[in-house]
Amino acid sequence: MKVGVVKEIKNNESRVGLTPAGVFELVRAGHTVFVQRSAGEGSGFPDPDYEDAGATLTGSAEAVYAAADMIVKVKEPIAVEYPLIREGQIVFTYFHFASSRELTEAMIASKAICIAYETVEDADGSLPLLTPMSEVAGRMAIQQGAKYLEKPIKGRGVLLGGVPGVPPGKVLILGAGVVGIQAAKMAAGLGAHVTILDINMKRLRYVNDVMPSHVVTELSTAYNIKKHIKTHDLIVGGVLIPGAKAPKLITRDMLKEMQPGTVLVDVAVDQGGCFETTRATTHEDPTYIIDDVVHYCVANMPGAVPYTSTLALTNVTLPYVLKIANLGWEEACARYKDLEKGLNIVRGEILYKEILA
Ligand SMILES: NC(=O)c1ccc[n+]([C@@H]2O[C@H](COP(=O)([O-])OP(=O)(O)OC[C@H]3O[C@@H](n4cnc5c(N)ncnc54)[C@H](O)[C@@H]3O)[C@@H](O)[C@H]2O)c1
Repeated sequence: MKVGVVKEIKNNESRVGLTPAGVFELVRAGHTVFVQRSAGEGSGFPDPDYEDAGATLTGSAEAVYAAADMIVKVKEPIAVEYPLIREGQIVFTYFHFASSRELTEAMIASKAICIAYETVEDADGSLPLLTPMSEVAGRMAIQQGAKYLEKPIKGRGVLLGGVPGVPPGKVLILGAGVVGIQAAKMAAGLGAHVTILDINMKRLRYVNDVMPSHVVTELSTAYNIKKHIKTHDLIVGGVLIPGAKAPKLITRDMLKEMQPGTVLVDVAVDQGGCFETTRATTHEDPTYIIDDVVHYCVANMPGAVPYTSTLALTNVTLPYVLKIANLGWEEACARYKDLEKGLNIVRGEILYKEILA
């Protein structure tokens, strides 16, 4: 199969759909890979690395779209890319169709085969191509939170790890899923005192089993949240109710009960956020302050660490890319039910009905 990799052109997106290692695997399996020049630069993979791995470098996105049977990307195509996508061409990327009618209509019109990373689903209901981005965001939440706790950026002036003779900072984590557990691990590693809340006792049992004793679990109730926000320095929102908006666990009037300079990091911002005062921010201007409480609500946190994020993403996407390239999309989806769940739009027909909701 002819596989194409283009440079991401969405604002602030530096990740790339395939690394040189991925190109090497595809070429080894007998496929041809076209890579647009400088596609991997933002992630730290220069053109010569792709060439050494066996890629054919091309000067323009147009040439890659024209040559490839399958395009492997990171973000959804944007308007200038719509006319380049051909009938019957496979596009394997994050689409998030439910959030853009325009994109959905453009992909229906293209008659392409749109396989969405975000709906590839394992038998246990987990989403293997979303997990690594939650892992990145969860770990980053503590790194960012620790920074914004510094006084010059209006934080409380607390060092999360404390020092000998001074107690550590306190981190409250809402949600013990992928984001929450990775955040807890980072915060515990820094020496912070960590409280993690979830409504799912199985998750709390797991956290209790694997984390050190300065990570304390409690059931997520309105009472417990109200109690803990008064004493914690950094609060991370990592809750998810699949397919629904995040519940507002911290309301505007609760901010007054927090210590001035408390930092809120709402990782769940992409599902509307779990704090009432959340509004999406960008890496250029990541924070704002309400009632002396610092809010960090960047919707694409992994975009700030493209080297790590590209490797984490391509680690999990490459096995699927190889299956599609080796078998063709129809046979690959027939054999692998997890991949079949990724079929969103096929030759103008919506197969994943939830995207219309
Ligand atoms: N901002 C970003 O850049 C970014 C990156 C990756 C993921 N995310 C988002 O982070 C959120 C969490 O993702 P995840 O992969 O950790 O999900 P997950 O499903 O692994 O975990 C969510 C957890 O929230 C818990 N939960 C639900 N309601 C709760 C409540 N009322 N109180 C406490 N816990 C509750 C669930 O039981 C579950 O354990 C999602 O909205 C995801 O889209 C954002």
